[in-house]
Amino acid sequence: MAAIRETWNSRTAFVLAAIGSAIGLGNIWRFPYVTYENGGGAFLVAYFICLFLAGIPLLMLEFSIGHKFHQAAPGSFKKINPRLEWFGWFAAGVGFIIVTYYAIIMAWSMNYTYEAATLGWEQEEGKYADIQYAIAETDLEDMGVLTEIPDSLLGRGFVSPVSADQSIVCDDPEDPEGYGTILVAFGGHLYGFNSVDEANTFMGSPGDFFFNDFLGVTSSPWDMGEFKWPLFIGFTLTWICIVASVWKGTKTVSKVVYFTVLIPWGLLLLFVIRGLTLSGAGSGIEYYLTPVWSKLMNAKIWLAAISQVFFSLSVGFAIMIAYGSFLPKKTNIAANAMIIGVADALTAFFGGLAVFSALGHHASSLGVPVSQVVSSGPGLAFVAYPHIITTLPAARIFGVLFFLMLLTLAVDSAFSLLEAVTASVKDKWKTSHRKSNLIVGGIAFLLGLPMLTGMGIHILDITDHFMNSFGLTLVVLGEVLIIGWGTGAEEQRHYINKNSSFNIGIWWNICIRWIIPMGILWMIFSEIQQRTVPYGSFGIRSQEFVFGWLLIILLPIISDLLANSKGTSEVE
Ligand code: PHE
Repeated sequence: MAAIRETWNSRTAFVLAAIGSAIGLGNIWRFPYVTYENGGGAFLVAYFICLFLAGIPLLMLEFSIGHKFHQAAPGSFKKINPRLEWFGWFAAGVGFIIVTYYAIIMAWSMNYTYEAATLGWEQEEGKYADIQYAIAETDLEDMGVLTEIPDSLLGRGFVSPVSADQSIVCDDPEDPEGYGTILVAFGGHLYGFNSVDEANTFMGSPGDFFFNDFLGVTSSPWDMGEFKWPLFIGFTLTWICIVASVWKGTKTVSKVVYFTVLIPWGLLLLFVIRGLTLSGAGSGIEYYLTPVWSKLMNAKIWLAAISQVFFSLSVGFAIMIAYGSFLPKKTNIAANAMIIGVADALTAFFGGLAVFSALGHHASSLGVPVSQVVSSGPGLAFVAYPHIITTLPAARIFGVLFFLMLLTLAVDSAFSLLEAVTASVKDKWKTSHRKSNLIVGGIAFLLGLPMLTGMGIHILDITDHFMNSFGLTLVVLGEVLIIGWGTGAEEQRHYINKNSSFNIGIWWNICIRWIIPMGILWMIFSEIQQRTVPYGSFGIRSQEFVFGWLLIILLPIISDLLANSKGTSEVE
């Protein structure tokens, strides 16, 4: 007799769980920047088109696969054709690798919650780590800066600018004019300092604390550096949260998601309001949203839009198939997919408002254009934003809330990844939920440990790049080929319509058979030509790609071994 499959407590629980998986760091630190870079308002148009032509149809596809076969990815593909089980494991494998480093970013956020409470990044660096911030905030007289040196001195023999804006331009021991021994050029002005130390405290580098003190980053992935014990504590706590959230499968998840979705939404709203009420916010929003329509003609922005849509909706990681498999018989696939897709896009849009209003404020208080202060990825969350927060009233509270927001945003993405793998293991070996959870979570935990050393961010960056550029894309390509061209898009569409409150038209078949495969092939092709990294590049050198390719080659082999290993019960 087939055991009754666990199901979501309610439709809301399912929708929130899928939204929780979809909204994550990508909405806050990737989307705003990608939008800004690719034509602002014009990008939003491209984004929404890709959302409706590719993202939402794929969500419908993944939900319907899980719903139809009542199995996580490996079991579902096995039912389509026993020879395809490995492909399901491949998808789960991509998700599994992602959770190993997603937990690391969460651990950073966990520890930064503490750093925020103590404003640790500020004390460690000296108050004036960022020259732009320093100049905006400092009474130059107080700093012992001798005087503001007139521009006319530029070019007078002892002043030789190193770079246009932020630079120590002179350490002239003679100091003919008595302005000080160190000169710093910024914003068209020169400032003089009494000593090198003073200038160094003044200059620093915005990322010093995060990269050097906090992570202890080494110069290459082959140089291990120090194991960061404080991070180990954050990492362990992170994993406890992840595993606890899926402890009893959908039963626990159905409850947890109310917190992990509603809390970050509430906090995001708070940051949007806080941001928009800051002086200078308007200039940031202008940068973010001013449409550059001509960019719509540029292929690059469509590529950026389609990859952002896939990444942000968490499709191609086996998650939505597993989540779909827990749906009750009577459900509403098409409407759920629409709600989830639109909610994710709106969250990203609001994320952009929060980020760019703060950047606008920061830039205007420094008197520089917004383009000088924008950043994305870890640079935004762990360097730029903390700096901005420091300059605001109630800095500690906002700092703690900001990292709490990141944590709650990320935790449901992380446990959705874990759940996708756990469900696959459970389906195949009929192990108890608890046992599968501990085994899968335990292995992911161990694999994450090397990323707590100085070489961690290098490994993270390379893995992230390969999983998103080739892992996700190959999974999505496989799905649309297997269903769209193999078992039949039309048949699947009927299935979706039978289980939805409204009928989707023939357009869905066109998306699945043509638009998505073409988009994906284009993505793969352009990734090979030039790398674009979801989490912000830390700079990969070519020999380090060996590691990335190794992952991509090993994954199908391991998937095949898993598929061929004997499951516990072949009968359903
Ligand atoms: N969709 C998540 C985000 O926007 C990222 C993610 C991808 C999470 C894959 C889980 C799995 O941040």
